[in-house]
Amino acid sequence: MHHTTSGRKKIAVIGGGNIGGELAALIARKELADVALLDIPEKEGLCKGKALDLMQNGTLLGWDCTITGTGNWADTAGSSVVIITAGVPRKPGMSRDDLLSINLKIMRSVAENIKTHCPDAFVIVISNPLDAMVYECAKVTGFPKNRVAGMAGVLDSARFQLFLAQEMGVSIKDVKAMVLGGHGDTMVPVTSYCTVNGIPVKQFISPERLASICARTAGGGGEIVKLMGTSAYYAPATAAVVMAESFLSDQKRLVPAAVFCNGEYGITDLYIGLPCVIGKGGVEKVLEITLTEDEKAQLAKSVAAVRELVDASARL
Ligand code: APR
Repeated sequence: MHHTTSGRKKIAVIGGGNIGGELAALIARKELADVALLDIPEKEGLCKGKALDLMQNGTLLGWDCTITGTGNWADTAGSSVVIITAGVPRKPGMSRDDLLSINLKIMRSVAENIKTHCPDAFVIVISNPLDAMVYECAKVTGFPKNRVAGMAGVLDSARFQLFLAQEMGVSIKDVKAMVLGGHGDTMVPVTSYCTVNGIPVKQFISPERLASICARTAGGGGEIVKLMGTSAYYAPATAAVVMAESFLSDQKRLVPAAVFCNGEYGITDLYIGLPCVIGKGGVEKVLEITLTEDEKAQLAKSVAAVRELVDASARL
């Protein structure tokens, strides 16, 4: 039998670097979709090589997806989901915001191509500075805002949950916690809703320890950059796959993600991390939850920081 096209869905992964490669590996291992792994023409060989290595890995692991490495946008056509990792990662000492001008240029060209080649896709942005990049992506593609979202909250919450579980010496499976706001130093680990199997963590962790865990969470990306000399990629890839899978399988996961605000929490015309429901309609709902006065103040501060970045982007 000879198959020219598969009946499987397709995910386009833009940027074949560390996160892109891990995304392709994970998507295939879960047999979620075929993958088009795209980079700039100079890096086409890298994408083709990773695709071959991964397909050979699939022979051993026994999955059936097709991964295509490419430098040609035509190969992304028909994708149900596009995940954008294109850009330069943070180097030690560099803040996410330092990346703005470099990655903004890249995002503009990537978004133009998505508009042309994947006009119906659900778009998940990973490139940093996240909140400004996702805003720009929605602006340039002109897609409905519920079809463009940013991956940050799922990752930041995973970091928060890990540190909480370690502090208490309990399984990560029983810890639930969310991080809202911008994907930067001003992110808001929401302590009022952290629980271990429904029990507020405040019954187990002192306010001082909790504050230090929140601070470590906010610096969680930087901690890894300092150790590795580049930014994290395993957990960022998995976090984006959580969102992609919720869309493709209409799971309606309730997750924090960078979503477009149209008055929610008093925020307008901005992408920022809020709890939302992701299903076949993309971001189907943004949930307005009750926050403490302190959390509201932290969110307002984060909104101001993100707005500053978006304003700076508009001038670049
Ligand atoms: N089109 C497609 N790919 C591009 C483009 C473009 N216009 N410009 C750059 N790229 C590619 C690079 O060639 C590189 O292979 O994006 C890839 C990024 O890979 P890495 O440098 O390994 O970076 P990674 O760690 O994967 O992070 C990607 O996600 O978390 C963020 O801050 C991080 O913005 C960075 C992004």
